[in-house]
Amino acid sequence: MNQLALITGASSGIGLELAKIFAKNGYDLIVNSENDEIFEAGEALRGLGVEVTEIQADLSTLEGAESLFDQVQNFGRTIDVVALNAGVGVGGEFISTNWDEELRMMNLNIVNTAFLAKKFVKGFSARDEGKLLITSSIAGELPGPYYAIYAATKAFLQSFSQALHYEMKDMGRNVTITALQPGATETEFFARGHMLDTPAGEAAKADPAIVAQDGFDALMAGKDSVVSGLKNKIQTAAGKLMSEQMGAANHAKQLKPNNLEKHH
Ligand SMILES: NC(=O)c1ccc[n+]([C@@H]2O[C@H](COP(=O)([O-])OP(=O)(O)OC[C@H]3O[C@@H](n4cnc5c(N)ncnc54)[C@H](OP(=O)(O)O)[C@@H]3O)[C@@H](O)[C@H]2O)c1
Repeated sequence: MNQLALITGASSGIGLELAKIFAKNGYDLIVNSENDEIFEAGEALRGLGVEVTEIQADLSTLEGAESLFDQVQNFGRTIDVVALNAGVGVGGEFISTNWDEELRMMNLNIVNTAFLAKKFVKGFSARDEGKLLITSSIAGELPGPYYAIYAATKAFLQSFSQALHYEMKDMGRNVTITALQPGATETEFFARGHMLDTPAGEAAKADPAIVAQDGFDALMAGKDSVVSGLKNKIQTAAGKLMSEQMGAANHAKQLKPNNLEKHH
């Protein structure tokens, strides 16, 4: 029987590419997203010759996250890999951004990612086997003016993933947690987070298929973390040598809306 992978946020972008790579490597899939597009993605993934089950759930709510976990638990098969990838951004000046959107983002990117990690890693730990991928970001490495809360959600995920990776190793468990750190990637992320009208939004971006492959390879190798792309690796390494305010200034150059008036 094939191994089984769960991928959240698998209807588009990096998550959909991750799902394709898992399928090509012979994994059966459970794919999740919030909207109906997950069924289109599921249909396309079935074309790759593996079993695919769609679970539609809004992971910005506790009910959605609980429902996803319960359905996976009741699926009747061992889950080998979990990729907690669903996430959104919210760009703009902090004084003008919408709090409800930011709260949803924090619940999705932070609270329910940690909740699902707790549920699944408990099972992995008891079985002494399992791999968890968390889609973090290079944005979490430095303070991120003009998407301040988003960058902070990714700083949380990066710290959390690294800590959990260490904890599992320290406890002698055959369980690995891998943080995937993409840079700007050509997905729906920038449009959805109102960030198209920024230097980063307008610049050329990485191919999500390459980003997903980097994540898959690091996950399979049991690495703690991977920065996708040479330019991003250099930028991240350089960032670690800067003061936080210098890093914030560099980050702001990329994410500051071109025309702030439009965002008021
Ligand atoms: N693109 C970048 O530049 C970039 C860089 C670094 C990190 N990342 C991270 O990469 C991850 C994937 O994003 P992406 O770039 O591939 O963007 P994307 O194309 O917008 O994909 C986001 C995925 O998450 C799902 N999702 C959003 N809200 C959800 C919710 N409440 N419940 C369940 N699923 C939800 C979306 O499904 P629905 O459409 O159904 O909501 C979609 O499948 C995110 O964690 C993001 O922070 C992206």
